[in-house]
Amino acid sequence: MSNKSLALPHNELTILVTGGAGFIGSHTCIELLGQNYNVVIVDDLSNSSKIAVERIRELSGADENQLVFYECNILDREGLETVFSKHAIDAIIHFAGFKAVGESTQKPLEYYWNNVAGSLVLFDVARNHGVKNVIFSSSATVYGDPEMIPITEECPLHEATNPYGETKAMMERILTDFYRADSEWNVVLLRYFNPIGAHESGRIGEDPKDIPNNLLPYVAQVAVGKLERIGVFGNDYPTKDGTGVRDYIHVVDLATGHVAAIKYAAAHSGSIAINLGTGVGYSVLDMISAFSRAVGKEIPYTIDARRPGDIAECYADPKLAYDLLGWKAVHTLDDMCADSWRWQQQNPYGYSDKEA
Ligand code: WQD
Repeated sequence: MSNKSLALPHNELTILVTGGAGFIGSHTCIELLGQNYNVVIVDDLSNSSKIAVERIRELSGADENQLVFYECNILDREGLETVFSKHAIDAIIHFAGFKAVGESTQKPLEYYWNNVAGSLVLFDVARNHGVKNVIFSSSATVYGDPEMIPITEECPLHEATNPYGETKAMMERILTDFYRADSEWNVVLLRYFNPIGAHESGRIGEDPKDIPNNLLPYVAQVAVGKLERIGVFGNDYPTKDGTGVRDYIHVVDLATGHVAAIKYAAAHSGSIAINLGTGVGYSVLDMISAFSRAVGKEIPYTIDARRPGDIAECYADPKLAYDLLGWKAVHTLDDMCADSWRWQQQNPYGYSDKEA
């Protein structure tokens, strides 16, 4: 399968989305289907729900040919062979992987096995079927404690403070080595910052399995009454108000960035890393007050000890994404909070059947 195939009319192209039932994956499927691409989802549902796939179909109006779902783990070579034999895949957007930073420090073997070995099985099967166009879900965590702020793609990579981040850095190097050995590989490494928000319909969103590790889903669960209060992890960082500063990006902006990367891959080949961020950093206290505005009431919090491994500040210089992909984030902080709150209110138990 050569790059020029991606230049065909979208309805003649099929994009394999691994992890497509997940938070970023489901929003990306909506955007792909909205652009008339055909979508095949492979997801083992270990951190997502088949209801999300039903909601993708509901929101996109995709029929059984435009959107096909396989419950399959990327380590399942036979299952992947079935998918690649039944569908002429033109490109892969690879989200599937474990992603909990804290959990990865407790279960490194599971993280390296699932995220790295699983990806190698996926790409071996893909190569055997001539599929070498890959958009990879990477993370700003590969920068470690960044040497520069805002962060450009030239910022040196540093050891991530956790096995999860290491799996992302390893997969970036592995995919780049594929291209160096065989120039038919066409790789775009997308380094996300902090994805939050939800589709404006409130029908799909972030559905953490247990107590949320990340700030925004935690804040949303306090706002909806599922959790008591937010613990702010430290207010003694060298930042404007002492709390951690991050580049929060609306998940729909992240999704459109993936579609832009597919279009970029149609006209370019090689291996390239691109930051997907807004270029604006907000502190934890900024986020709590922004979410309070969306909810219309104060949200209780206490100042707690720092979380080990956290860095003070991290936000992107998004210039390369604009120059190469013609993409930039367009949603505001209030959009992110309003959309996240709508999802939380309409789905207090996420996709679980308790809500049904
Ligand atoms: C944001 C800020 C915390 C929770 C992680 C991963 C990264 C990426 C995005 C996958 C920090 C503070 C948080 C809480 C708090 N994921 N915080 N109380 O750590 O920037 O990035 O998610 O790619 O790889 O590392 O996101 O949402 O956990 O934290 O005060 O209960 O909120 O200290 O300053 P983080 P986060």
